[in-house]
Amino acid sequence: VRSGVEHKMVSMSNGTFGDRWQGIGTENGKEVVRVSGAWGKALHGSDVVSSLDSSIEAVTVIHNESSTGVTNPIHEIAESIRAKADPLLMVDVVTSAGSIDLKLKELQPDAAVFGSQKAMALPPGLAIMFASERLLKKAETVQNRGYYFDLVEMKKFADRDLTLTTPPISLLYGLDYQLGKMLKEGMRARFERTHEMAEVARTWALKRFKLYAEEGYRSDTIIVIEFGKLDFPAFNKALKARGYEVSGGYGKCKDISFRIGTMGDLRVEDIRELTKIMDEVLEGMT
Ligand SMILES: Cc1ncc(COP(=O)(O)O)c(C=O)c1O
Repeated sequence: VRSGVEHKMVSMSNGTFGDRWQGIGTENGKEVVRVSGAWGKALHGSDVVSSLDSSIEAVTVIHNESSTGVTNPIHEIAESIRAKADPLLMVDVVTSAGSIDLKLKELQPDAAVFGSQKAMALPPGLAIMFASERLLKKAETVQNRGYYFDLVEMKKFADRDLTLTTPPISLLYGLDYQLGKMLKEGMRARFERTHEMAEVARTWALKRFKLYAEEGYRSDTIIVIEFGKLDFPAFNKALKARGYEVSGGYGKCKDISFRIGTMGDLRVEDIRELTKIMDEVLEGMT
């Protein structure tokens, strides 16, 4: 948003990371029209259209909301937006790029942002963004783009095969290796493996607990489980003693949920093994 919005944007949220992007807009001095939906439920095109007019330069939306385990239907949202207006479409694909099919050619986002440390299964440190020609052109007209995230300067350097700031070479080698591995596995196979892992985790969770995300929009990379009366710290401690660990809840869901990640290079056997160990730990706790 620093490079792509001069005055006004719409920012959609149904979780912590959506709220964060709304905050990022404000912190960068933009006027942010907040479209906020219920946590655990998906956002839809119908939620955003009434906020659109010609003054809206961009709409931001989180594809896979990691705090709630909801995957928002970004294609449907994009279609509704484009039927009414022509803002830039900026999508956070932090926990989906590399493990869920983004269908980028159909989506045609102006910005799609992610990091190395999630579904790409690399150490943290790289922020990766696809930027459209339209966004790069718009950036030329935006004042106060700062230095570090100035898309115009970045593009000038990229055109000479250079980076604006000192590149983390080791991570770029890692990315090259990981992309090679993905091509070898095949993206279709990778998406199917991710889905199968999520199904294993969801099936396990539904035997004992509730899923936070509404049916039909449940993420294939992050399973958010409402744990009810479970003593979660004791459960995770016992799991750790067996060499496994699950993530605590995040943001508003912190005290009511835990999360199982099913992304990156994990295998279906890993998730099956995890569910077996979680069953054993739970039986030991009752
Ligand atoms: C959907 C989503 N967006 C943004 C972020 C923030 O990423 P980072 O910690 O690399 O800034 C996260 C981190 O978990 C995330 O899950």
